[in-house]
Amino acid sequence: MKPSFHARGFAAFALLAGLALIAVPEARSQEPIVIKFSHVVAADTPKGRGAERFKELAESRTKGRVKVEVYPNSTLYKDKEELEALQLGSVQMLAPSLAKFGPLGVKEFEVFDIPYMFPDEQFLGRVENGPIGRKLMSKLETKGITGLAFWDNGFKVFSANRPIAAPSDLKGLKLRIQSSKVLEAQMRALDAVPQVMAFGDVYQALQTGVVDGTENPWSNMYTQKMHEVQKYAVDTYHGYLGYAVIVNTKFWSGLPPDVRAALEGAMKDATAFEHEIARKDNQDAMAAIEKSGRTKVIHLGADQRAAWVKALAPVRAEVAGRVGKDMIDEIVQEQAAAGLH
Ligand code: LMR
Repeated sequence: MKPSFHARGFAAFALLAGLALIAVPEARSQEPIVIKFSHVVAADTPKGRGAERFKELAESRTKGRVKVEVYPNSTLYKDKEELEALQLGSVQMLAPSLAKFGPLGVKEFEVFDIPYMFPDEQFLGRVENGPIGRKLMSKLETKGITGLAFWDNGFKVFSANRPIAAPSDLKGLKLRIQSSKVLEAQMRALDAVPQVMAFGDVYQALQTGVVDGTENPWSNMYTQKMHEVQKYAVDTYHGYLGYAVIVNTKFWSGLPPDVRAALEGAMKDATAFEHEIARKDNQDAMAAIEKSGRTKVIHLGADQRAAWVKALAPVRAEVAGRVGKDMIDEIVQEQAAAGLH
C-alpha cells in the first residue's frame, strides 16, 4: 500500500531536519555546554567571587555556547564527595583547598600546609607558577583531573573559646582541620588534638563543642560566621590556604578547541582577579570580626610570633618523607634565590 500524503510529507520533513542537524553542528546541540562549578565556601569569599567572575567571562566570551552553574557553600557536594563527583564527571570544575588532595593520593600538595614555609603571596606565586607548581598539577593527570590554575585565599589564624597568645594555649584543645596529614602533625606539635571535618560542618561543631577551635583565613572565619561561636582569635598567620582550580580531563579535552581556548582565557583573567581581591577580602573580614565585638582578636608582637615559628619548626622535617624532601629543598632554594634567607 502506497504511503499516504501525510506520511510522505512527514518523511520529507524528518529527512530535512536530520540533514540540518548534520550539516550545521551548532544546530546539533543548541543546548549550551554546561560547566557545573561546585565549591564549599560562601559566595562572598575570594574563591566564591573568582568563580562568579569566571562564569561571567566564560559565558560572554563563548557567546552563550557555555553555561557555568556555580554551586557555593557545599550546596551540591561536601569536601570529600566533590572530588569523587569530578572524577565521575557529575561536576566539571572545582577549586579545592591544596590541603585536600592527600586522600586522592596526591599527598605532595600538602607541602603548602607546612607552617611558616611561605612568607607571602608573592613567593607563593613564584612556587605555584614555576616548575614545582607545574610538577604538582601534572600529578593530577593520573587521576583523570587537569589542573588549570592556583587561586589564593590567605594565611590562617587560630581561634578558640579561650585566650590564645602562646603555642601552649592550644594544649589539649580539639581543633578542626582539613584532611591533611601535615595539618595533623602541626596540631600535634602544639599538643592539640586534630579533628578532620568537612568545611560545611565546622560552624555547628564549634557551636555544639564537638571541637573547641580551628584555623582559617579571616574571610572563611567571617563568612561562615565562626566569629559568633569563637571568643578568641590570634593572628599567627602560621599556614597558607590556597586552591587548585581543576577540571575533569575527559570533559576538558573533549571540548571544541575554540571553546576551550576561550575558557582558558577566561580562567586566566578570573585568576588574576581572584589574586587581586584575596588579600583585601581577608583584611576586610578581620576588621568586620573585630567590629562585631564577638571575637577578641589578639595581635602578636614579634617575640610572641617567634615562639609560634619555633614551636612549629619541627613539622617540616617530620613531614618531609610524606610530601617529598626534594620538593622542600627546592622551595628552600627558591627562598634563597628570592633573597628570603
Ligand atoms: C577548609 O576546609 O577549611 C577550606 O578548605 C575551605 C575552603 O575551601 O576555603
